[in-house]
Amino acid sequence: MTSSTYSLRRGQLTTYFDRTAVEAWSRLTSDAPVSKIRATVRAGRDAMRANLLSWLPEDMTGKRLLDAGCGTGALAVEAARRGAEVVAIDVSPTLVGLARERLPEIAGPGSIDFRVGDMLDPWLGRFDHVVAMDSLIHYRSTDIVRALAELALRTDGSIVFTVAPRTALLTVMHAAGSFFPKSDRAPAIVPVTEGGLKRLIAKESALGRFSVERTKRINSFFYLSNALELRRS
Ligand SMILES: C[S@@+](CC[C@H](N)C(=O)[O-])C[C@H]1O[C@@H](n2cnc3c(N)ncnc32)[C@H](O)[C@@H]1O
Repeated sequence: MTSSTYSLRRGQLTTYFDRTAVEAWSRLTSDAPVSKIRATVRAGRDAMRANLLSWLPEDMTGKRLLDAGCGTGALAVEAARRGAEVVAIDVSPTLVGLARERLPEIAGPGSIDFRVGDMLDPWLGRFDHVVAMDSLIHYRSTDIVRALAELALRTDGSIVFTVAPRTALLTVMHAAGSFFPKSDRAPAIVPVTEGGLKRLIAKESALGRFSVERTKRINSFFYLSNALELRRS
């Protein structure tokens, strides 16, 4: 069961990623020229995607992978190239449409099934691996851990995901961000401390068989994100 704060935030994110920011997001995730600030974000995101992929098996032939909050689908494509049967889901129909348009030929046995909807939909079935790159960063930590618990119920291998680390600088940037007009603002990113998140994970009974195996922070000027790997023992 998802909470009302999760549903509320998911609704705000749908509006944001399907309308407000769709142009900017389409550009950021393409090769088109972007501002210097956005270029640092693009570089940071490329590094994060490479890091998450490095935590997954080189050969995923016959494995099912969920790309939870797939956006325009870059990670899903790389996973399919490694042979995975990918289910890539996002609440934004426009971003999923872009992902379908951009889908290159996948050589080998891998495939991608793009869907529009909630990453927690139980009808998506069981997975060997789940990846949620920057798609949980707007949810509060209790909702992040509830989402991980739901995903864990149908994950046989690992869940790799990112959160926004809480740092003093980020707190200042958030305060600065609140001076922008409301209409241009993204739903707030909710920074979390790694220690706090690990404590919540340890308390969540549905995650009892999972442990935090690795963490990695990527910092590229305006991109700051912390990756964690939860693995089933
Ligand atoms: C910051 S973008 C990252 C997209 C992609 N993972 C990437 O790294 O390029 C976050 C994405 O998560 C999606 N999202 C947020 N909450 C979701 C949910 N509950 N179910 C499915 N998608 C969700 C948003 O629509 C958005 O496309």
